[in-house]
Amino acid sequence: MTVLEVDGIDTYYGNSHVLHDVSLELAEGEVVALLGRNGAGKTTTMRSIMGTTPPRRGRISYRGTDLVGRSPNEINRLGIDLVPEDRRVFPTLTVQENLTLAHKLADDPRPVEEMYELFPILDDLRRNRGRNLSGGEQQMLSVARALVQRPSLLLLDEPTEGLAPVIVDDLREMLRDVVSQDVTVLLSEQNVTFAFALATRGYVIDTGSIVFEGTIDELQDRDDLLEQYLAVSPEEVR
Ligand SMILES: Nc1ncnc2c1ncn2[C@@H]1O[C@H](COP(=O)(O)OP(=O)(O)OP(=O)(O)O)[C@@H](O)[C@H]1O
Ligand SMILES: [Mg+2]
Repeated sequence: MTVLEVDGIDTYYGNSHVLHDVSLELAEGEVVALLGRNGAGKTTTMRSIMGTTPPRRGRISYRGTDLVGRSPNEINRLGIDLVPEDRRVFPTLTVQENLTLAHKLADDPRPVEEMYELFPILDDLRRNRGRNLSGGEQQMLSVARALVQRPSLLLLDEPTEGLAPVIVDDLREMLRDVVSQDVTVLLSEQNVTFAFALATRGYVIDTGSIVFEGTIDELQDRDDLLEQYLAVSPEEVR
């Protein structure tokens, strides 16, 4: 069953035309990667779906409901959560408070305690304030805060950005647990290895246009795409 269908969207910032006829589809339970270099249009695609920068043309359908024209808040209420690339945890609230606040705002939340099972690192940091967490810890908290709301569709915008390799490994393992649960994920990344480890299908975006759509297995064999659009050598990702 199709969860999300983005159909030919064009998105602008003022007069700047950023997304050109972008289409993508996510089926129930899939993890789909959205790959591309800096400025390719990954975040803009996420913002288009979330309603923060809605498209001027095209259609976005989520479980049969049109999203274009709805507010980010309404879209969130439909079961879509975005973990933005700048990880907006509340700096003055503790880890526990960040999670309980998200819990309160959701209609059908998961128990906060489940998040500590999923992210044991956070369990040790319950009383620490958001502003005192490391980048990796903030990233885990951002993901946990989204998950506590029991999203049906999770948009993860470059979760590995700025994280040390060892933290990236931890995050990957935690996300593996998460994606085995009932959630559909769109994962934007520049870390191709990370995305390949989690996703089964992928899209490559470049200067606001989709230039590849297919399985990760297919993409792994496309030396041309890996080098031209993802700036990785094929040996690195196989
Ligand atoms: N608020 C904005 N106003 C104007 N232009 C913007 C704005 N945000 C992004 N852009 C432009 O839109 C294009 C796509 O940016 P976007 O943030 O979607 O890329 P990205 O793939 O997420 O890149 P990154 O990997 O660096 O996060 C870029 O050319 C960028 O300069
Ligand atoms: Mg981005």
